[in-house]
Amino acid sequence: MEDELLSLKGQALACLGNAQDNDSLEACRVQYLGRKGLFSTVMRNLGKTSEEDRPRLGKLANEIKLALEQAFADKQNGFTASNNASKNKASQDLTLPGRAIPFGKHHPVSQVMTEICSVFERLGFTVAEGPDIELDFYNFEGLNIPAHHPARDMHDTFYISSNILLRTHTSPMQVRTMEKQPPPLRMIVPGKVYRCDSDITHTPMFHQVEGFLVDDNVSFADLKGVLSIFIAQIFSAKTAIRFRPSFFPFTEPSAEVDIACVICNGKGCRVCKQTGWLEILGAGLIDPEVFKKVGYDPEQYSGFAFGLGVERIAMLKYGITDIRLFYENDIRFLRQF
Ligand code: FA5
Repeated sequence: MEDELLSLKGQALACLGNAQDNDSLEACRVQYLGRKGLFSTVMRNLGKTSEEDRPRLGKLANEIKLALEQAFADKQNGFTASNNASKNKASQDLTLPGRAIPFGKHHPVSQVMTEICSVFERLGFTVAEGPDIELDFYNFEGLNIPAHHPARDMHDTFYISSNILLRTHTSPMQVRTMEKQPPPLRMIVPGKVYRCDSDITHTPMFHQVEGFLVDDNVSFADLKGVLSIFIAQIFSAKTAIRFRPSFFPFTEPSAEVDIACVICNGKGCRVCKQTGWLEILGAGLIDPEVFKKVGYDPEQYSGFAFGLGVERIAMLKYGITDIRLFYENDIRFLRQF
């Protein structure tokens, strides 16, 4: 029986070696290892062997059966792997065009901010940034706005504690810079500012660009010259502008600058509140009180400062009638820029 088992093993391995696909392999497995296969037939004779030989032959038969089962499984796995590889090859169409990835763009407010900064950079201004979370001193006190001054009401401030707040304008950077550096200064400060305010021309977070220049003999004419060049470059040389007397505690004299409403061409509409003009910035000559707070001699130095609203300028440039559209994240709106 031992010879019979060994011969059967050899035949089964030869049959397995010749199998070219899954079907012939399965036929081979059934012929040798199936319930009615050749191996079962030989095993049925095990009971007829002597009691002395039976354990040894039983052990041998089991070893052969396990080895054959393993050999069949290995060969079957080999067929499956090569089938998958050839299926994958067939399903890849290398002539198909690639998937187009849509390009992102800068937000319209960022685009206008970059344009504004580049106009001032060409005029020789350097760019600096300041903190969004600010001390009361820099946002108010250092700018000649003491506690209980009525001008604080105009700012609708978000307070974090009695002494710390979200800056309501970029003007604190005037004080921070002058505290550290002697004149001459020619600087712009772009950044986010925050006010508890919301309607078609106001948002609780918006962007300003602060500008200031300090030197000997700086006059209101210098301020008018710089702002007129700026407006001509951002809009057009024909854009009507007006300087309207105003009040800021940190500038004297002060003005607000309006440009003719581009939505209605100055006729009067919802956006310009029927006035035909839209305010884009506040400006003036730096108040001597601010110079005294930072240790500059107001007899020696003079300077101008301005702070403009970036969203307002973007609205006018693109004819947008509601400032809140910038922050609704509607892709159909944003794609237009
Ligand atoms: C100021 O913030 C002053 N710091 C500007 C300044 C700087 C004056 C230097 C003098 C010297 P005002 O509060 O007017 O000023 O704001 C300036 C501009 O920010 C406005 O002209 C307007 O264009 C814009 N602005 C103000 N509030 C909002 C708001 N809630 N949403 C959008 N834009 C606003």
